[in-house]
Amino acid sequence: MRPPSPRQNRVVGWQSPRHSGAAVPHCNPGNTNQTAGFPMIKNQHDLTQAVLAVMQQTPDARLREIMVSLVTHLHGFVKDVKLTEDEFRTGTALIARMGQMTNDSHNEVVLMAGSLGVSSLVCLLNNGTAPDGGQKETTHNLLGPFWRMHSPRTVNGASIVRSPTPGAPMHVQARVLDTAGTPVADAEVDVWHCAPTGFYENQLEAKAEGQADMNLRGKFTTGAQGEFSFWSVKPIGYPIPTDGVVGQLLAAQRRHPMRPAHVHALILKPGYKTLISQVYADDDPNLATDAQFGVTQAVTGHFERHDTLPAARAAGEDAAAPWYSLDFTFHMEAGESRLPRAPIK
Ligand SMILES: [Fe+2]
Repeated sequence: MRPPSPRQNRVVGWQSPRHSGAAVPHCNPGNTNQTAGFPMIKNQHDLTQAVLAVMQQTPDARLREIMVSLVTHLHGFVKDVKLTEDEFRTGTALIARMGQMTNDSHNEVVLMAGSLGVSSLVCLLNNGTAPDGGQKETTHNLLGPFWRMHSPRTVNGASIVRSPTPGAPMHVQARVLDTAGTPVADAEVDVWHCAPTGFYENQLEAKAEGQADMNLRGKFTTGAQGEFSFWSVKPIGYPIPTDGVVGQLLAAQRRHPMRPAHVHALILKPGYKTLISQVYADDDPNLATDAQFGVTQAVTGHFERHDTLPAARAAGEDAAAPWYSLDFTFHMEAGESRLPRAPIK
């Protein structure tokens, strides 16, 4: 019989999911290696040292690193702003409220993370990694809440408008390259965006306005040069929800809730890290003030206006001018190909 592995043999009540690869177990109070006490606390400085000493006893190395840093910064923040007791109670109530507001169709915590720039920071820190470790520009971006699995397979060059939808026609011509500039052929590309009314088809408001199931969504396969293309209508910027804690923060800071117009993409191919991206319209008035801090230079696209119809579209029943064209290049990095979980049900 083989001896147990170090992981199996380790006495740990909690370990980082990143290292364990498993769901986080509940802490077992009888399963502890905390043997050393700490000196009697006499003041605030002793307190921080006592908490850090306990954090240092965390068996899992990654969890220990995270908790020591978290406590260092959290205690530093409290001391830095000289947090009052009233402010502490208000803050904990707001955090609790964010949890209470979160359900299958809304996540106030993620919305707050975006509103504080944390979501974009994690994205930029973990992508653009070859070879400079998060220092290069990247076409990775935020997933957002409205991605759905199983969007309809669509032929390159076809339209993803699946029910009458107002707005200016938009043609997207894109390609997928690796970090060396080599085309990524046979990649699966999901695209989705909101209607010019500001709603994605899986929002209740979109159903009320008559958008068909899977309207403005499509799944494409890149060609030999990494290319894919489609017709749609030009999306518009839309506000994030403001009926919760995030809305209170934006109001207190005199910030608008708008996200600039964008087209989402999720690109998959084995051997490459799944590319989750958004391409933002360079003519949007809120490009420089995105409420979620998602806009970066690498994912800003030029939506060129045309006042005469292309010959191939002149006879189409939904042909109209002006129309817009977007030419954009996505870059995939080497890594693991896996689908995210759909954010809402
Ligand atoms: Fe979006």
